[in-house]
Amino acid sequence: MKRVEFYTGEPVEPSDLWFRDPYIDQVWETLRRQHVLISAPRRTGKTSVMNHLARNPREGYLVVYQNVQDLSHPAQLFQTILENFFEQSQDLTNQLAQSGFGMLKRAIEIVRNSVDSVSAGGFKIALRNSDPDWEKHWKEHGDSLLAAIRKSQRPVLLIIDELPDLILEMRDRDEALVRDFLAWFRVQRQNPVPSQDPVRWLIGGSVNLTSTLDELGEVAAINDIAIETLPVLTDDQVIEFVRRMLEGREVPYEPDAPWTALKRLGRPIPLFLQLATQDIVRSWRNNPRTITAKDVDAVFDALISSQAAQDKLQHYHSRIKLHYKQPKQSAAYALLGQLSQSASNGLSRRALLSEFVRHLDAQSMELNEPDKRRQFNHLMRDLENDFYIVEIDDESYDFASGLMKAWWKKYYA
Ligand SMILES: Nc1ncnc2c1ncn2[C@@H]1O[C@H](COP(=O)(O)OP(=O)(O)OP(=O)(O)O)[C@@H](O)[C@H]1O
Ligand SMILES: [Mg+2]
Repeated sequence: MKRVEFYTGEPVEPSDLWFRDPYIDQVWETLRRQHVLISAPRRTGKTSVMNHLARNPREGYLVVYQNVQDLSHPAQLFQTILENFFEQSQDLTNQLAQSGFGMLKRAIEIVRNSVDSVSAGGFKIALRNSDPDWEKHWKEHGDSLLAAIRKSQRPVLLIIDELPDLILEMRDRDEALVRDFLAWFRVQRQNPVPSQDPVRWLIGGSVNLTSTLDELGEVAAINDIAIETLPVLTDDQVIEFVRRMLEGREVPYEPDAPWTALKRLGRPIPLFLQLATQDIVRSWRNNPRTITAKDVDAVFDALISSQAAQDKLQHYHSRIKLHYKQPKQSAAYALLGQLSQSASNGLSRRALLSEFVRHLDAQSMELNEPDKRRQFNHLMRDLENDFYIVEIDDESYDFASGLMKAWWKKYYA
């Protein structure tokens, strides 16, 4: 059996991607008739699945993948898609250019006539140069691109990773633009209906798209898209992962060692599972022995204070500042701080509500009663959707990840 490497942040190579085959089958199945939204929190394996779809296309699809995290305008989205098209299939790009897509035709001519532009990024520069008013004409170019694909009859799957980030960037730049884009995008997905359209969209991202759109009053803008939720790894899969990784490296372990890892992880974020298992192997390399439950506990204790965990977990802390608006932002920190100090049975919803109200009062944020409740309910929903917390039993909540809880307590409680 081939030894599988540890992945500690980068997408998992399709050949090393365990546990996702049934999900990938299901996504392809849904794509036959619908556009798809892959929904899952940070660091759980969305991009790995998207890469798998892109590298092992089915049903004759040409799959074009783009990460739009750092973009802020629809014009950049289409430029990126066209650039990736060009990289993946120059034949098809030429065909699209020939089918009446003037801007693309000009860009290809610019590339052909210039020696320099063959260098990396040359095509994108040519694209930009072929229309000095790209931002104004984004809709026209978007329409032409889709019309050209439809004319070619070639099934094309457009994967847009981190779309919610693009939407948030657009929102911060110009709210009218984001509404315009959402309306355009919806019309494009419905006309023609997917079952008669060679174009398929697969979108994904870790910021919760539904709550992002909810705040804009635009949830209806995506209600035609099939949501495929990436499954949380099961207990058996976590145990299997730890066992296979240890056995693949001939690391001996007591039977309860993988169970201790499972317990310490809480609901497993795949990245943390990888980091912890890698550390178990490293600790064994430093001191070869049969790994016991106690050794696993020691690895977790060290991991919580490590730079690696700091780098990966800090993100969860910072993103609240980026994406939550007041009063939810500071209240989120207050609630998570309290929760990180709770016992393993978490805190009741009622206790969290009174912490929320206490926080608002302390900050002199004046809200009437119905607004307080509404803000609290939204905050709880966002914290759940963004994977900070889970309802552990009736009306009781705890951190979704045991590792994150311990880390939060250490640094932020
Ligand atoms: N099937 C899997 N088995 C084990 N570990 C996995 C699996 N899928 C993902 N991971 C772990 O999660 C990490 C992140 O994977 P990936 O980039 O695909 O996730 P993501 O959800 O796209 O993350 P982000 O939210 O940062 O975009 C990988 O480096 C690896 O540690
Ligand atoms: Mg990703």
